[in-house]
Amino acid sequence: MRLIVPLQGVVQGRGGLILGSLIPCALFYFFQLYVKRHRSPKSGSNHISPSQSSPNLAELQRSSSRSNLSSRGSIGRVQVSSRASSIAKPNDSPYYIGLDKVSEDAYNRFDNPDGVIQLGLSENRLCFDLIEKWFSENVKDSVIGSDGGDLSISGIAAYQPFDGLMELKVAMAGFMSQVMGPAVSFDPSQMVLTCGATPAIEILCFCLADPGNAFLVPTPYYSGFDRDIRWRTGVELIPVHCRNTDNFIISITSLDQAYNQARKRGVKVRGILLSNPGNPVGNLLPRETLDDILYFSQEKNIHIISDEIYAGSVYGTEEHISMAELLDSDDIDKTRIHIVYGLSKDLSLPGFRVGVIYSFNDTVLVAAKRLARFSSISAPTQRLLTSMLSDTRFTLTYINTSKKRIQKMHDLFVAGLKQLGIECAMSSAGFYCWANMSKLIPSYSEKGELELWEMLLNIGKINVTPGSAFHCIEPGWFRCCFTTLSEEDIPIVIERIRKVAETCKSSS
Ligand SMILES: *[C@@H]1O[C@H](CO)[C@@H](O)[C@H](O)[C@H]1NC(C)=O
Ligand SMILES: *[C@@H]1O[C@H](CO)[C@@H](O)[C@H](O)[C@H]1NC(C)=O
Ligand SMILES: *[C@@H]1O[C@H](CO)[C@@H](O)[C@H](O)[C@H]1NC(C)=O
Ligand SMILES: *[C@@H]1O[C@H](CO)[C@@H](O)[C@H](O)[C@H]1NC(C)=O
Repeated sequence: MRLIVPLQGVVQGRGGLILGSLIPCALFYFFQLYVKRHRSPKSGSNHISPSQSSPNLAELQRSSSRSNLSSRGSIGRVQVSSRASSIAKPNDSPYYIGLDKVSEDAYNRFDNPDGVIQLGLSENRLCFDLIEKWFSENVKDSVIGSDGGDLSISGIAAYQPFDGLMELKVAMAGFMSQVMGPAVSFDPSQMVLTCGATPAIEILCFCLADPGNAFLVPTPYYSGFDRDIRWRTGVELIPVHCRNTDNFIISITSLDQAYNQARKRGVKVRGILLSNPGNPVGNLLPRETLDDILYFSQEKNIHIISDEIYAGSVYGTEEHISMAELLDSDDIDKTRIHIVYGLSKDLSLPGFRVGVIYSFNDTVLVAAKRLARFSSISAPTQRLLTSMLSDTRFTLTYINTSKKRIQKMHDLFVAGLKQLGIECAMSSAGFYCWANMSKLIPSYSEKGELELWEMLLNIGKINVTPGSAFHCIEPGWFRCCFTTLSEEDIPIVIERIRKVAETCKSSS
């Protein structure tokens, strides 16, 4: 068993690795076999690696029963699963390296003005004042309640349904239709609540696909999907490339090509994973595209997961159209449509961990409700949010204000970049812009893009995310999240980019 595990890890890994790794792996296998055969039980302790020796070894010898255990021949490092080993590997994606860099040396206008400025995390800090105000006025009543009843201590401390309190589902359904427009209504009984959109997406993929099956994902896509979806479910993601000439809107031709290529490789495609509004571009899918995708999914008999977590953070004149809005017609098989939502973006509460699965498929709903026991929201959080979301005067004002503030920051930021000759793709949602810095990259390639990223991070001290981290095939695009900044920071960011741009010019 012990000897077979490392081999399994490789075989289950990515297809391309198998051949390249099989030979060294087989050698390793025989080497272990040789070592095991040729060591006498007593010489076992010689094989302890240096890092394991000293303190632990002294302790082993002190206790006689333990030293007996150690002479049974199982000396060596205890194994963990191949899954854990692969997850524990250092992450070399610029997305995570940048975030780490900020956490070591975060910019602060007053305390650390030379620190690294965060433009890599999609978080909205523009409306914390509104949340804070609501809390100071409502928190005590909403959690403990003045008259007991539903909000009594037994409603917080005792077991509650793992898939969410019905009261919160009702309030959430109301909030979602507020956000997605009056044309859409949501049925609380089709909802499963999870601690964040991350488990919501993972549970859906777990329910819709088996290990080795795949989802088609239009690029550029949120870098976290590679981790969130693949780690535990064993489901693959197949990038479907979108181009700047279509403002990064998916075309059915490329979807069809990717589908056929996967089929040729023997991979079973179980669905399409869409982000609408898009992340990292901030674009919205037009109605015709949604119709086409829906038609495509029926034709191929696959699912659609529509991640609409930024639906309430749309600020332009263009309107967000929820997948739910398209399902009125009777000839559409709704049981293949699954919507993901959450409060981390539109209500700026990522710390609260609240996500939503909205599905029309009863089998999926039943399974997801059972799986939600691994990722349920704590009851006090749910009570608090039931109160907050039911306060529609607050939520309306909040969404209204938030959109205005995002738009203002967007306009200032994009105008600042424009002064440097850097244009952004058209966007009308989200906390970021998608900037074309191709004129600054030393060579028109992924390598050139990463070189610029490193300069921006290390010389400019700003953490932006390069397009390659989102699987974008056109080099030179960068996602810049501007909602963690305050207005006063914008000129500083622009100045830092200018400095890097000048370094680029003088070195070329
Ligand atoms: C080790 O175990 C054997 C029996 O398995 C026993 O006879 C012996 O005393 C033990 N040695 C020590 C050091 O405990
Ligand atoms: C759920 O979706 C699957 C796959 O499309 C379908 O076979 C099944 O009938 C659906 N179940 C229900 C209860 O709608
Ligand atoms: C949103 O803001 C606009 C402009 O200030 C205002 O006219 C409108 O009534 C507001 N809507 C809500 C729901 O607060
Ligand atoms: C991106 O920027 C480069 C250099 O400024 C320019 O040549 C190119 O046309 C731009 N691409 C788009 C899509 O705007």
